[in-house]
Amino acid sequence: MDLTPLVRLVWPIATALTVATCATSPPPSTAAAAAGSGAALYARHCAVCHGADGSGDTVVSQLLRPRPNAFRLGLFKLVSTDNGMPSDDDLVATLRRGMPGSTMMSWGWLPDADLRALAAEVRRLAVHGRADSIRRTALATNRPITETEAIAAAEQELAPGDPIDVGTPVPPNADNLAEGERLYRQHCSGCHGTDGRGLPASADWPTDGTWLWPRDFTAGYLRGDATYRDLASRVRAGMPGAHMPPTRLSVAETEALVGYLQSLIAEDASAHHTQWRRTVRVQQTGSLPADDDAAAWARLDTVRLPLAPLWWRPEACSELWLTAAHDGTDIALRLQWADASRDDTAVPTSTISDGVAIQFAPTLDPPLFAMGSAEQPVNVWRWHAYDPKVLAGMADLLGRTHEGLDVPLGGTRPRPRGESLAFRGVASAARETGSGLPLAVATEWRDGRWTATFRRSLHARSSNEVDLAAATPVLFAFAVWDAHLDRHAGSKAITTWHALELERRGTRR
Ligand code: HEC
Ligand code: HEC
Repeated sequence: MDLTPLVRLVWPIATALTVATCATSPPPSTAAAAAGSGAALYARHCAVCHGADGSGDTVVSQLLRPRPNAFRLGLFKLVSTDNGMPSDDDLVATLRRGMPGSTMMSWGWLPDADLRALAAEVRRLAVHGRADSIRRTALATNRPITETEAIAAAEQELAPGDPIDVGTPVPPNADNLAEGERLYRQHCSGCHGTDGRGLPASADWPTDGTWLWPRDFTAGYLRGDATYRDLASRVRAGMPGAHMPPTRLSVAETEALVGYLQSLIAEDASAHHTQWRRTVRVQQTGSLPADDDAAAWARLDTVRLPLAPLWWRPEACSELWLTAAHDGTDIALRLQWADASRDDTAVPTSTISDGVAIQFAPTLDPPLFAMGSAEQPVNVWRWHAYDPKVLAGMADLLGRTHEGLDVPLGGTRPRPRGESLAFRGVASAARETGSGLPLAVATEWRDGRWTATFRRSLHARSSNEVDLAAATPVLFAFAVWDAHLDRHAGSKAITTWHALELERRGTRR
């Protein structure tokens, strides 16, 4: 599959804007450094996508491509052992990095002990899944076994094997590169293409999102790292949770092949899409820049925040640029993202328009994905270019007979305001829409890019809002909708939580 449109869409913006010079002080992690119990951490952070029992069968997972891993099947992609089961270190590395190119974010802001506890919980769920299937087979063949026996058998089956000897990186020279290229053509190009850009998935692949197309090495993202060790592990062990087979190569062959592979894959291949939690310092200025004062905005730091499209496809928007300032009274957050089309047409099937939302949480470990919970409500600032109700009305008017017709909204200007809402979980989102406080949002679409500038007082205007003037750290996360791609509201691109830190006069470092 050709992913160049993504790169073309994204890089001009990446280079046109000031690259983040933003402070990188370590973001706050859960205050209690003591390890939480793996099960409790899992329930809080992971179950929404991976399922309470690790079946990967959740409401949310229906919206995601790639699908969240079903741990109960005991299949993982990123492994370094000779039996295809991840070691504890493999799992912890995955949690720390996340899996760029999917909605699996980095959890590296959690203390190490928590990551180890989570890795153990993932393994426990895999063992229980395997044990259930062992028991079912035993029952079907009339040799019933106890649960304890089944778990012991599953534990043995799923225990990580020995680390693969992957050799050491060898400095590239004409000979070993030629040998690497020969091995690549023999073992890899059938799926990844001779140019490394990946061939399209074939028609007989399952379409449920469990299998993905062969990776395009030039696209700038990998699920794992691009180090010699990681790539060599992928080559030797394959990716057991994916359609990527292991190979039987000698250590010398592995060294040559990986050397060649590294000539196709940039060392920082994953960095661009890695969803680390960053600290965004909001600078204090004498007065806030006007919406159209591009020069004043350009003098402020801009941070690039990677976006993960829920439904991954090459042309989906994969990054957001944030410029923030406050003047001691008000805050302005300016967001910019690439969007090739200003979707000011009503399409009978669409219920969503271009838009952006910022989710604020006054706590340090809110659920990532669920739009808050009863105990941990979130404050959402949301703007959509056009009123979904107007779009829906148009669609209604047109009826089914006009399906496929795009009807212009008659040069309607994008809405000049957004809404500030309190959400207590996914179900509350639909209920609350339309009931929020108005928010000033100045927007512009130009040259394939939306700019949306939100303004509000630092102080909360009601108990439904997060008070940004309060001293406690606030986390915020972002979502972008592209109506051109997404014809339903559940389909969008999101960031992980980032920490918002107000620069205060006199405390400027
Ligand atoms: C927003 C949804 C989401 C949340 C929340 C989430 N994950 Fe994932 N996770 C995914 C997706 C999607 C994948 C599959 C990515 C792929 O296969 O390319 C995945 C894959 C994984 C894998 C598979 C690694 C491998 O080698 O194949 C592990 C382990 C994992 N997640 C653990 C966790 C843990 C632990 C948590 C909680 C701390 C968590 N995830 C939270 C979406 C999520
Ligand atoms: C049968 C098809 C197939 C063959 C043959 C194959 N791959 Fe893959 N490869 C895939 C698929 C599919 C993926 C994406 C898996 C996913 O993320 O679900 C992939 C992913 C990868 C990745 C990405 C790892 C990451 O961290 O995201 C690398 C590197 C890779 N392959 C290298 C190779 C090399 C080197 C060879 C030859 C030794 C090879 N592959 C042979 C299908 C194949």
